[in-house]
Amino acid sequence: MTFTSDTKSIVIGGTSGIGKAVAAALQSRGGSVAVASRSTGLDVADETAIIAYFDAYGPVDHVIFTAGSAAPGGAVTDVASEDAKRAFDTKFWGSVAVAKAAAKHIRRGGTITLTSGFLARRTVPGTYVKTAMNAALEATAKILAKELAPIRVNVVSPGLTDTEAYAGMDTAARTAMLQQTAASLPAGKTGTPDDLALGYLFAIENPFVTGAVIDIDGGALIN
Ligand SMILES: NC(=O)c1ccc[n+]([C@@H]2O[C@H](COP(=O)([O-])OP(=O)(O)OC[C@H]3O[C@@H](n4cnc5c(N)ncnc54)[C@H](OP(=O)(O)O)[C@@H]3O)[C@@H](O)[C@H]2O)c1
Repeated sequence: MTFTSDTKSIVIGGTSGIGKAVAAALQSRGGSVAVASRSTGLDVADETAIIAYFDAYGPVDHVIFTAGSAAPGGAVTDVASEDAKRAFDTKFWGSVAVAKAAAKHIRRGGTITLTSGFLARRTVPGTYVKTAMNAALEATAKILAKELAPIRVNVVSPGLTDTEAYAGMDTAARTAMLQQTAASLPAGKTGTPDDLALGYLFAIENPFVTGAVIDIDGGALIN
């Protein structure tokens, strides 16, 4: 059985958006669920802090990483390298550091589920940081799935999902972006955090899934 009252799960990035929905879905399955992010005192760009966090937490079953939705947009020639590196430090290097630190503490039958994004495999000018970061993450997760076996390691790749990540946008522009994308997608909708949470639960609960990239994107990759 995947979940018992003793099951321990950690959602890094679980204070907002997709991670928050994953934490709620895990809570409904039973066991204990911890969430961590900068607002709880953990910055994933700080590898020393990540190691200390997992060492203090002890044995864990399921580790989910959804942190770091911010990445600079713009042409490769225009994006400041330090801005691109900062995004990598959070999402890519943060994911790697969490996998490294968590692996020592994950119990038999445990899992790591990371998060990429549909731009990993779409060629869209002006999005190279997201594309490069998510593609590197998907490739690294497959290596981790072999190196850390029998720990299962998977990636969920979201399409456009209405979360706090877009809270900084003007309301009218945000609504227009969501409506235009919904109309253009084969699924006829954009994602909700709950739609995405189902993918993480699938990766965690199915014992035959490892090294997988689970696309939950409304059909963005076949568009
Ligand atoms: N929403 C979409 O349309 C979409 C599409 C494709 C891919 N994705 C991916 O899905 C994941 C989740 O996105 P979301 O939309 O749910 O984002 P979100 O609502 O902005 O949530 C991001 C979470 O990451 C945490 N975080 C950010 N920087 C951190 C840091 N340095 N250290 C620790 N925690 C940090 C935030 O909490 P604090 O601020 O407290 O640190 C928050 O809990 C991201 O990897 C994103 O790239 C999202």
